[in-house]
Amino acid sequence: MGKVYAAVLAGGIGQRMGNVEKPKQFMEIGGKPIIIHTLEKFAVHPGLEKILVLSPKAWVGYTSDIIRKYIPMSDKIAVLEGGATRNETAMNAIRYIEQAGDLDEDTILITHDSVRPFVTHRIIEENIRFAEKYGATDTVIPATDTIVQSLKDGRIDLIPDRRFMYQGQTPQTFHAKKLKDTYEALTQDEKDTLTDACKIMVLKGEHVHLVEGEVFNIKITYPYDITVAKALLGMKLEEQDA
Ligand code: CTP
Repeated sequence: MGKVYAAVLAGGIGQRMGNVEKPKQFMEIGGKPIIIHTLEKFAVHPGLEKILVLSPKAWVGYTSDIIRKYIPMSDKIAVLEGGATRNETAMNAIRYIEQAGDLDEDTILITHDSVRPFVTHRIIEENIRFAEKYGATDTVIPATDTIVQSLKDGRIDLIPDRRFMYQGQTPQTFHAKKLKDTYEALTQDEKDTLTDACKIMVLKGEHVHLVEGEVFNIKITYPYDITVAKALLGMKLEEQDA
């Protein structure tokens, strides 16, 4: 079995959160920055070689400071600069692994949104196990709403059968070298159509295995999600106390 690296993707600035003083991953819920809640889930995982955190250039120092403040055993965490797009941020993580001399055929990279603080140990575990077995994974939940496709003019083109529709979450996990090679083989047009990293593999016909996510594994995107996240956190604390 190869080494397993985690990349917590925090290179975005959270435009959809609106005019807030910091990128959303640094906003606090339950007295701690969101990204710290996320990192705690990975920091306790014994199987990880290193946890890479990739932030916007201007926030790299700040990210290191809060990690030192909130996570006592932080020597396994390295903070790096993110890229212009989410996939470029993931590529920066792979470049780090390469420079560390660890980009072998069997090196696994588990990528996760910094703004999904409710990921579970089971989800992380299955991502690693299934990526080792099948090559790559995506974490999903069955679509609850019917998905409607409209390409233009506000009219419906397609209503796919909901039984086969899923909503993508993270983690998404890959053989790091294969992800890099496949990404580099895409044309710029193909790269422009990407909304996530799994599509890199899907475009090239590679097997991406599904891992069952959780409805509560939400991505904090809009101000509304902060309210939901605070409520979820309250529920988790009550469960622990019970
Ligand atoms: N991300 C990243 N590098 C980028 C863009 C996004 O690492 N260049 C990360 C974000 O920090 C976030 C995750 O990818 O943790 C999910 O992306 P999203 O929710 O779209 O974050 P933002 O790009 O920050 O948000 P917005 O689209 O509202 O600006």
